[in-house]
Amino acid sequence: MSDKISRRTFLKAAGAAMATAATPFSLVEVVFGAAKGERFTFAYLSDSHLQQIKGTKFVANFDKGLTRAVAELNFMDPKPDFVVYGGDLAQLGKREEIDHGLELMSKLNHPVKWVIGEHDYYLDLGEYWQQKVSPLHYSFDHKGVHFVVLNSILTFEDWMKKWASDPMGRMLQMARLDNPQGSPFMVGDEQLRWLRRDLEKVKSDTPVVVLSHSPLYKIFKPWNFWTEDAEKVQEALKRFKKVTVLHGHVHQVLYNQIGNITFYAMMSTAWPWPYPVSYTQKPNAVPKLTIFMNRQDPHNERDGTGWGWLDLESGRAGVHHELWENTARRIIYDAKLGKPVDTVYQDPKKRIPPQTHY
Ligand SMILES: [Fe+2]
Ligand SMILES: [Fe+2]
Repeated sequence: MSDKISRRTFLKAAGAAMATAATPFSLVEVVFGAAKGERFTFAYLSDSHLQQIKGTKFVANFDKGLTRAVAELNFMDPKPDFVVYGGDLAQLGKREEIDHGLELMSKLNHPVKWVIGEHDYYLDLGEYWQQKVSPLHYSFDHKGVHFVVLNSILTFEDWMKKWASDPMGRMLQMARLDNPQGSPFMVGDEQLRWLRRDLEKVKSDTPVVVLSHSPLYKIFKPWNFWTEDAEKVQEALKRFKKVTVLHGHVHQVLYNQIGNITFYAMMSTAWPWPYPVSYTQKPNAVPKLTIFMNRQDPHNERDGTGWGWLDLESGRAGVHHELWENTARRIIYDAKLGKPVDTVYQDPKKRIPPQTHY
């Protein structure tokens, strides 16, 4: 891999609301890939889980996460071409929560591409989201890259029938992490047909980026870090030379390579989930190469959370995780290895030793 290193200036600021002065700092950005392609940057934030308590009162900590991310994104220099919101803007899919989220997001100076999460969907099955926010699935082209947004959090009809007369009951069941009454996420046959049709017009050497909420592979079923028909989506993407899937939902740094597809999980602005390996009763498939975040500090409300930005050159993504209260992480596709690697911590000698105090 013939990498060259360039620098960009990034202004990190907590914004006026946080009463913190802007602090400029530099990030190392790795340019990779042999062919010279058009380069662009976009940002990613996800999983804010804004929760209404009563009336205009919302959970302050979750508001703070999104507000801080928006303020910092407005200081990105150069500006990102757009921002992807990866889903779970709301906690229980209420109109008040979605409206509140849109109000906080309206401070953002960049266009937004929206992905729906299960917390936005299961109260009214995406009705208000489609009215006020975005279609549930769509595609667009940007500077030579084909982007596809999927609604990956659909589920089985039989399970839906159980909750037909109780929308909030359905929402609460889907909102739990380790709920045996839940139901696996899926893209569904209808959307798969749409996806195959959408991709028909795209050449095999056009880079494809898929944006979904749940991972389009199977990590851990008991927590729904899982998409039931992931293999069918992977199959539809098989003929493309460069495919990247970006997802939220798991609230942690994860990366994986399955066949021709590179998968990256992005951070939550609200809270981090633990890695499923900590839940040893059941088998899990956290990718072997993954280097875990440090254990978060329970006394620090922003630890283990953050947002990210990506640069795309020659159709491959470089992912930068802007982890609040933790070291920033950068993960790129290594052409020689054919999989994504952490640019600093991948070497086992450089890894932070596991913390064993419980
Ligand atoms: Fe989430
Ligand atoms: Fe989610």
